[in-house]
Parts: sequence; structure tokens; C-alpha cells
Amino acid sequence: MNATRHIVITGVSRGLGRALFEHYWQLGHKLSGCCRSSAVCQQLSSSFPERACLGVVDVSQEAEVGRWAAQALEAFGPPDLLINNAAVINANNVLWEVPVSEFSRLIDINVKGVFHVIRHFVPAMIERRNGVIVNISSGWGRSTSPQVAPYCASKFAVEGLTRALAAELPAGLAAVAVNPGVIHTEMLESCFGSMARSFPTAEAWVARAAPFFLALGPRHNGQSLDVPTA
Ligand SMILES: NC(=O)c1ccc[n+]([C@@H]2O[C@H](COP(=O)([O-])OP(=O)(O)OC[C@H]3O[C@@H](n4cnc5c(N)ncnc54)[C@H](OP(=O)(O)O)[C@@H]3O)[C@@H](O)[C@H]2O)c1
Repeated sequence: MNATRHIVITGVSRGLGRALFEHYWQLGHKLSGCCRSSAVCQQLSSSFPERACLGVVDVSQEAEVGRWAAQALEAFGPPDLLINNAAVINANNVLWEVPVSEFSRLIDINVKGVFHVIRHFVPAMIERRNGVIVNISSGWGRSTSPQVAPYCASKFAVEGLTRALAAELPAGLAAVAVNPGVIHTEMLESCFGSMARSFPTAEAWVARAAPFFLALGPRHNGQSLDVPTA
């Protein structure tokens, strides 16, 4: 794929989002990215001075998403590829001991955050009648494990939301839920501890994931897919 695309990614300060952001930027694409850390955002803005629209945004805050989306749409037009990547995981715990505030915050980010981003970017994609929305799900959006019930609930929600959205989109667009696999990031360290080190790095993962996402199109609308493992 040689054409330059506008790619929007949430959660670009580290992990999978950061690896995708850097990879696509190196390929010459126009990137819009966000995260909550203003220090990282500033550092990204100076490392990627052109073709990048970065915002300090908490995706759970609809107004913040709206301001960043307006800037991104103004700079580069509707996204060709919109990747809802930002998410958090609960500290390992049995469900009945999860603090109410932690459960609520997780749902606000992992589920409502995806909705806020869709709400502010997808109308422009619909108007142009093309583009792909990738909602990053998880193996824990299709099967479960103990100690991560809030996270499982949020990723099952992402799968359902994506399929319903897919049924609403006009021809030319696609919404796809993608399980990225198991990758050594801060999130994996939170739930797997030192075992996380035995999994591939985000840099190894992105070599498989980045072309896979770019190859998605209308024929994939409504599917639940996995990033290929090889
Ligand atoms: N790693 C795995 O093995 C694995 C497996 C299955 C699914 N996933 C999914 O893959 C995606 C990326 O995970 P990861 O492993 O790369 O996690 P990570 O290393 O913890 O990175 C998460 C990213 O999301 C951002 N973020 C978190 N809350 C945010 C908020 N409220 N607003 C904006 N940005 C926010 C973080 O930036 P700030 O903290 O600066 O905001 C960070 O850039 C997630 O959807 C995760 O559920 C990962």
C-alpha cells in the first residue's frame, strides 16, 4: 500500500498504540494520536513534527475527544483507518473486591471512550463513504479468566458494540473488532507479572499488525479477527 492515509490511533504514549504510531509515521502516513500524558505528547510532537496531530486527551472525557477530533479532521480530513486502542486493565482482583471507582473508571475508558471517539470521527467517514474502524478487543473479549472480570466485561462490550455498529454503517465502511494477541507491554505486566517478559515485544508485534490493519476493508465489516501470529 503506497498511498498516504490518515490514521487515527488512541493511546499512543506506549505499548501497541505507540508502536503503531511510530511504524505508520515512518511509512509516510498522516497520524492523529492521543494519550493522557502531556509530557509524552509533547515529546511525540517534537519527535514527529510533521504529519502528526497529537492531543492530550482522556478518551473518557467526551469534550476532550471532541476538541482533538476537530483538530485532526481539520488538519487531515476524515480518517482512512481509525484504531480505538486506548484501554486500561483492573489490578488483579476477584470481582467482589474490585473498588467501585476502579470498575467505573475502566468502563468509562474502555467502553465509553470507544463510543466518544466513534461519535466524533465516524460522521466524517460516513460523509466520505469510506474508512475502517478497528476496535481493539482482546482474547478476554471472547473468553474469560479469573481476576480480570471488569476488563473482560469491557472487551465483551467492545465486541458487541462493534458488531452492532457494523450493521449500521453504510457501504464503503467497516467496523472490525481485533484481538491483538498477547504482547509484552505495561498492561500485560499488570496481569501476568514477570511472565509477561516471555511474550513478543510491541516492536515485533507491529511488523505483523500494521500491514494487517491496512489490508482491512469493507469486506471485513462486522468480523471479529485476530492479528496473525506469524
Ligand atoms: N498487551 C496485550 O497483550 C494485549 C492483549 C489483548 C488486548 N490488548 C489491548 O491492546 C490495547 C493496547 O494495550 P497495551 O498493552 O499497549 O496497553 P498499555 O501499554 O497499558 O498502553 C495503553 C495506552 O492507552 C493509553 N490510555 C489509557 N487510558 C487512556 C485514556 N483514558 N485516554 C487516552 N489514552 C489512554 C495509555 O496512555 P496514557 O496512560 O498516557 O493515557 C497508553 O498509551 C488495549 O486496548 C488493550 O486492551 C492488549
